[in-house]
Amino acid sequence: MRLDSLDRLLQIIRVRRSRRWITVLGLIGTAILIALFWQRLHPAQSPLSALPEITISRSQNEPIQPIPLQVTLNANKVQLGAKLFGDTLLSMDRQVSCLSCHRLDQGGVDRQARSRGANRVQTKVNTPTVLNVAYNFRFSWNGKFETLEAQIEGLAQTVMGNSWEQVIPRLQQVPEYVQQFKAIYSDGITVPNVIDAIADYERSLITPNSRFDQFLRGNYTALTVEEKEGYRWFKSYGCVGCHQGMNVGGNLFQKFGMLGNYFADRGNLTRADYGRYNVTGSENDRYVFRVPSLRNVAITPPYFHDGSAQTLEQAINTMAQYQLGRPLDQEHARRIAQFLNTLTGEGVDHESF
Ligand code: HEC
Ligand code: HEC
Repeated sequence: MRLDSLDRLLQIIRVRRSRRWITVLGLIGTAILIALFWQRLHPAQSPLSALPEITISRSQNEPIQPIPLQVTLNANKVQLGAKLFGDTLLSMDRQVSCLSCHRLDQGGVDRQARSRGANRVQTKVNTPTVLNVAYNFRFSWNGKFETLEAQIEGLAQTVMGNSWEQVIPRLQQVPEYVQQFKAIYSDGITVPNVIDAIADYERSLITPNSRFDQFLRGNYTALTVEEKEGYRWFKSYGCVGCHQGMNVGGNLFQKFGMLGNYFADRGNLTRADYGRYNVTGSENDRYVFRVPSLRNVAITPPYFHDGSAQTLEQAINTMAQYQLGRPLDQEHARRIAQFLNTLTGEGVDHESF
């Protein structure tokens, strides 16, 4: 190739190159303009909005389901059960009723680590809530009872200092009870009927329509960005592996201290700490408890079967340490607590029965 023709060739290439540069620069310029325009349309709200938003296509796909908005029950039974639930005639010394410990104005608990029943006898464990209790798969901390009826039957001796047989003559002396029982049960006031009425009343104690349930039903603005983030951490840390289903718990047995010896660290071991071992006698069940429901948990301190955690944050950190085996970033713990606050449902409206 001759020198001058090579020169010409190089010139052509240079021209083409500069044209390409012009095109590239043009494209970059356009992209910057588009980006600037986009930012004006969508200004950044807060640093959190940079986090990926949680998306929920259908509540069925979520590990937690909403509580039904209403339940169908026999209104007369529920009314009778409500009356029995608040009646001190049911306790040996006529000093306590179910309401004394399961205060419905306090999330179904008395907010004490231990409670005092008839004859001032102290309970061995913290009082759990009766709200949404019907959605648990077993009853009591160690899941000793398979039905609500069996649970109520067992209560007579443990907290009321009575046998149900002893209660019947007392109720028979109250004309109002005689009438109310007769209207529902052909055999009047009997132990199974007393238990049946209280059990149906308990089935009525649901707290639907929490903000989280509204969110599950498709109202995505029912939760704040921080609460949604808390739900995301609740799922990604693995809390949801145990606390799930309609009651955000209440449907599994799990060991307290899966990844650490909670009881050795706490000290003062009691028989109640053996959990399900006391029911089955099986070594595998030592320290195993029914995973409690987290519905309304924000309003039911103190926490755990021993009532050892005073605050939700404390309970969350204990869970992370002993159930997940890793410490929780405190910012994440706060967000999880914010999420748990959205599980507080609407109060029980007795007028609607
Ligand atoms: C002295 C306080 C006290 C009184 C009074 C009391 N309870 Fe309880 N209740 C408890 C405690 C403590 C437990 C947990 C027992 C356990 O796990 O061993 C409990 C458990 C329950 C449960 C099971 C909750 C669950 O999630 O498994 C139900 C239901 C219940 N009580 C209903 C009643 C009814 C009905 C009455 C009245 C007849 C009553 N309670 C009276 C303290 C009380
Ligand atoms: C391996 C199963 C498991 C995992 C994972 C787990 N929990 Fe628990 N959770 C339990 C059990 C079991 C209890 C009851 C312990 C006891 O009191 O005996 C409990 C109790 C609780 C309580 C107290 C409830 C009450 O009414 O007293 C809270 C709050 C709680 N868990 C939140 C969480 C959070 C938040 C996470 C995730 C950081 C988590 N849990 C992870 C099994 C689990």
